[in-house]
Amino acid sequence: MQGSANLNLMIKAARKAGRSLVKDFREVENLQVSSKGPGDFVSKADREAERIIKEELRGARPSYGWLGEETGEDAGEDPTRRWIVDPLDGTTNFLHGLPHWAVSIALEHKGEVVAGVIFDAAKDELYYAEKGLGAFMNETRLRVSGRRNMIEAIFATGVPFGGKSTLPATLQDLARLMPVCAGVRRFGSAALDLAYVAAGRYEGYWERGINPWDMAAGLILVKEAGGFIGPVREGRDIFESGSVIAANAEMFEPMCKILRQPA
Ligand code: IPD
Repeated sequence: MQGSANLNLMIKAARKAGRSLVKDFREVENLQVSSKGPGDFVSKADREAERIIKEELRGARPSYGWLGEETGEDAGEDPTRRWIVDPLDGTTNFLHGLPHWAVSIALEHKGEVVAGVIFDAAKDELYYAEKGLGAFMNETRLRVSGRRNMIEAIFATGVPFGGKSTLPATLQDLARLMPVCAGVRRFGSAALDLAYVAAGRYEGYWERGINPWDMAAGLILVKEAGGFIGPVREGRDIFESGSVIAANAEMFEPMCKILRQPA
């Protein structure tokens, strides 16, 4: 795919941060880790990856705004564009030596995500999408799964760290969904959960209590791969609701029906 200059910039930044993370991952037992709260960890690896990405992106586009998991929000001179960045999605996996984590970078224009890059550096899988140009993993064009029957479908979900406020609702979701599908996975990286929906590896994903940086890049990947996205709570903006349902065309409505049922 012939992407825009912005997409190429995002890919360059994701690869550079990915290289730094892979180095740290090899020596993960030596990393200094601090905790922001139960299950919410940060290390030198996350901070360095965000520094690298910020230097690349803001160096090239100083007027764009910024929203990053580790460095927060920073308005740019151009109020219509901002980068949304999670330098290390799947931090807990990373810190346990589990090779399931990714760099996630999105570009938002006038409130809409127009490009996204997710780099699974441990597996060298680079996912990218740009509005109207499709979604890809390395050189391969992505399409969401063609499975039509709920009973054959696999879904993924997540429970944010601590999980206190969203856990009861997610347990209820599981009780409703698990008996009617082939299985539910909880792999610990929202960005990769969305990338896997785009790649047709599973039919759908949902999560309650999720941040924009965890899902921004994944949302455009799913859309450009032919999937559907929406909030768990109907009628609300996905970012504002802090919840998401992403699925192939056949599973989206049945998932919405199940997950939007009153408690
Ligand atoms: C977390 C992961 C996890 C999801 C949480 C996220 P982090 O991101 O994506 O799968 O369930 O909601 O916060 O903290 O590893 O960047």
